Amino acid sequence: MTIDQNTKLYGIVGYPLGHSLSPTMHNRAFAAAGLNAVYLAFETKDMDGCLKGVRALGICGMSVTIPYKTAAISHLDEVDELAQAIGAVNTIVNDDGRLVGYNTDALGALKALEEKTRLSGKTCLLVGAGGAARAIGYILKERAVELKVANRSPQRGEELAEFLDCPYIALDDLEVANADILIQTTSVGMSPHENNCLIPENILREAMVVMDIIYNPIETKLLKMAKDRGCRTINGLGMFIHQGAEQFRLWTKLDPPREVMTRAVMQALMKRT
Ligand code: ATR
Repeated sequence: MTIDQNTKLYGIVGYPLGHSLSPTMHNRAFAAAGLNAVYLAFETKDMDGCLKGVRALGICGMSVTIPYKTAAISHLDEVDELAQAIGAVNTIVNDDGRLVGYNTDALGALKALEEKTRLSGKTCLLVGAGGAARAIGYILKERAVELKVANRSPQRGEELAEFLDCPYIALDDLEVANADILIQTTSVGMSPHENNCLIPENILREAMVVMDIIYNPIETKLLKMAKDRGCRTINGLGMFIHQGAEQFRLWTKLDPPREVMTRAVMQALMKRT
């Protein structure tokens, strides 16, 4: 690909960004679609400055990640209904100078789950109360899933439980949750701390569906334990690819090349191990 005066610029803003595979995934997708576009990582503590830069330089689209998914909202001209309801954006589209925010995390998680299990009527324990848990909880509630929230800090956990209108459970009391599906949304167990796990083994029952949104490593300690206990497991790769594919669709209005994106991320993860 040749970079020239017509090259469109996209990127990700967050802090820290060291672990992000979004540049690898999106650059491969742009190339596969034959687009004259590049995607860069903007690791910055100055999110306001970054978004001013997006406007001033005509950057076409941004991914937004930790810790800016909530704070970015007040800098945008418009926020779509789902992102507004969730209270977090992970995608910005620069629509002729108007910055519009979206949330593709929710749909990404939903697609990854629906590939493996039926949702309606199930009970789901959400572990964590950050932006990811909020997005996943919101969309699962819309799908008639009965939710329970567990979190390290009771205050954040109770706030999310109130938002989702569901019970809060302390991390020490997880055995009372009795859920069909468990979704781990915290960063505990992420590389380089892959020996950590928040969930006690004894709450993992056979036939339970256990999803970890971490994709590095692909199989977290939680997922290994869950497999050993006879649970069905879902790693974080599906959600990551699906949320990225929806971003690609929003930016380019084209069908995302999912297989190319998956291969790019798998190859990058394999190189790291
Ligand atoms: P994101 O937007 O990606 O979900 P976040 O808003 O920073 O990220 O939320 C991180 C979640 O991981 C929170 O639920 C956090 O728990 P607290 O609310 O108690 O901070 C959880 N978390 C992070 N590190 C943790 C740890 N070492 N032990 C337990 N929970 C942890």
